[in-house]
Amino acid sequence: MKEQLEAIRKQAFDKLEEINDIRELDELKVHYLGKKGELTQILKGMGSLSPEERPIVGQLANDIRTALEERIAEVKERLIKALRDEKLKSETLDVTMPGRIRHLGKKHPLTAVLDEIKDIFLGMGYEIAEGPEVELDYNNFEALNIPKNHPARDTQDTFYISENVVLRTHTSPVQIRHMKSHKPPIRIICPGRVYRSDAVDATHSPVFHQVEGLVVDKGVTMGDLVGTLQAFARGIFGENTKIRLRPHHFPFTEPSAEVDVSCWGCNGSGCRICKGEGWVEILGAGMVHPNVLRECGIDPEVYSGFAFGMGIERITMGKYGIDDMRLLFENDIRFLKQF
Ligand code: DAH
Repeated sequence: MKEQLEAIRKQAFDKLEEINDIRELDELKVHYLGKKGELTQILKGMGSLSPEERPIVGQLANDIRTALEERIAEVKERLIKALRDEKLKSETLDVTMPGRIRHLGKKHPLTAVLDEIKDIFLGMGYEIAEGPEVELDYNNFEALNIPKNHPARDTQDTFYISENVVLRTHTSPVQIRHMKSHKPPIRIICPGRVYRSDAVDATHSPVFHQVEGLVVDKGVTMGDLVGTLQAFARGIFGENTKIRLRPHHFPFTEPSAEVDVSCWGCNGSGCRICKGEGWVEILGAGMVHPNVLRECGIDPEVYSGFAFGMGIERITMGKYGIDDMRLLFENDIRFLKQF
């Protein structure tokens, strides 16, 4: 029995040296010291020993048990420490490492310019009004003093959805909607998408954006229009910008004008941007035609108003020196990143 015990001791200690996982260690403990463990079995068999042998063998078995328990506890501690070290190592943070650069999204140049335009007019007390892109022929043309056979319809290559419904060709129909649903004083800008069946090239797109402006009140004059546009031009192109009005014709305004700004590229002396003119056309404007006011239920004998309309693409291209409108719609990230 003594030899048996010594063999168990040797075997158990040898195995312990090879263990490197807590679960294996627990299994080993059960295998030797558990209720049905090898050592326990031997102690149970002591009844067959002589009374002289019994205490000696008993002593030996207890010594082995104690030694084994101690050793198991030591190994367990070693394993736990190793586990903790490994965890700490995997969680170390190198604070000297350079951070990851996160690329922030940016506003599309058209959105950036539109936001600037909005800021300028909101600052002057305007409100923003919007209307649908699918519009009645009546709002898009008729109520704007452009009857069915009017030649002005030819200049706006219209997408017709049905005889009386179109994709709006400009943001001017929002004027009509607003005047019909609001009483003067009115002071609005109407930003939005518009459609014309133009072929795509460097300066045309079948979808583009406009901002319409409308002011209606008692005693509104052409002087108010000029002052407003002057303030706008300075806000968007810089303090030294001048404007000039050239007589023009729009059916919905009388008198009407096309408005130029002094060229931001050369300050008026002539360059590539203004094609040597010193001036760049940026919008159309005028005093709201009495027919339009009347159609919207506003008495032109009491009220007067001015209106203007501009293309956001053209202003954006001017401001940033973009020479091809397609760049604004292709959304090539290498292009957009520059703004
Ligand atoms: N609706 C015109 C266009 O699309 C732009 C315009 C010109 C709007 C004069 C106006 C205006 O309100 O008064 O070409």
